[in-house]
Amino acid sequence: MNSGMTVQPRSYGATAGRKTHSQAAHPAIVTTRRGGFLAWEPCDYRSLQTSRKVSQLVCGNSQVAAAPPVPPFHRPPHSRILTSGHLIVPESLLTEKPMSHQPAAPRDRRVTVTDLGRAKQQGRPITMATAYDWPSARLVDEAGIDCVLVGDSVAMVVAGRDSTIPATLEQMLYHGEIVARGCRRALVVVDLPFPLQHLGTIRAIEASARLLKETGCQAIKLEGTAGQAEVIAGIVAAGIPVMGHVGLRPQAVHQLGGYRVQRDRDQLFEDATAAAEAGAFAVVLECVPEAIAREITESLPVPTIGIGAGSSCSGQVLVFHDLVGLSQDRVPSFVRSYAAVGNDIRSGLRRWHEDVVNRRFPGPDETPA
Ligand code: KIV
Repeated sequence: MNSGMTVQPRSYGATAGRKTHSQAAHPAIVTTRRGGFLAWEPCDYRSLQTSRKVSQLVCGNSQVAAAPPVPPFHRPPHSRILTSGHLIVPESLLTEKPMSHQPAAPRDRRVTVTDLGRAKQQGRPITMATAYDWPSARLVDEAGIDCVLVGDSVAMVVAGRDSTIPATLEQMLYHGEIVARGCRRALVVVDLPFPLQHLGTIRAIEASARLLKETGCQAIKLEGTAGQAEVIAGIVAAGIPVMGHVGLRPQAVHQLGGYRVQRDRDQLFEDATAAAEAGAFAVVLECVPEAIAREITESLPVPTIGIGAGSSCSGQVLVFHDLVGLSQDRVPSFVRSYAAVGNDIRSGLRRWHEDVVNRRFPGPDETPA
């Protein structure tokens, strides 16, 4: 398509040439000769530098860049270098629509619940990923993802439990605090663990208030049917932003008969509408057929965040470990992994072990004189 491209960082007010925390999170813009734009995401400062070295950048069948070859360890995830020197990256990492990459809020301040409502009105997809600790929180935040969810999935993903039911309020407080401390820009939402939303409005307000006061998170999420609308209204009346969660409610997995797609259109509509009318600022739709998710998204005044609910939702959420290829178990079919971090860790650990037992580590460089 083009050759002789220049690659420039998109500037959100950062000082040119000085690497700052926020600059590291900036996506790159690849400017074509035609004056068009191709945004390459995710792209940190290092891969931005690296992209100058790309031999040929190919999107689908179109060549979009030309430059010297790139070393394999700098390549974007899931990319390939052909013997011709072409770098092939998944189309999902390249787009010709820079406007769709406008963040939900400016890069220099925290995303708010009103930003998410505006993003829906303006048709800008919202992104949310889970995080459970400080390093993953920083990675998600620095990637420019709008919301970080401290999910009760911590019980499964981090603690190896069979469901999210064992997650306790104390655990959510612990993980909420370390995640919130790692996030400068993303809106941080923390799960109200089972069964607090079923124990009456006062207890739910007390627990939600603790989650905000003791963690520094900005909102809570709760799973429920229309039966929890009064509780949502009470928490919202206390000034605490609530994200609803309908469809497959993992806390009710035993009642729902497993982790299954939820197909009862009327029930889904009733639950999602009740959450929005009670004041929820957004509603997660989990494992819902695309057609129903689309209808609900069109009908609700607030954003829907889908997980296994198709592409018509106002935004998407995935579990961090699934997203980066770190999950120990089989990942759900609706997941797409954008990295294979688990394989990297496995091979790094094996190599270190081998080096130690064969006395190759530590070497002279790692040994004090
Ligand atoms: O706990 C969690 O991770 C969640 C998301 C999967 C929506 O609720």
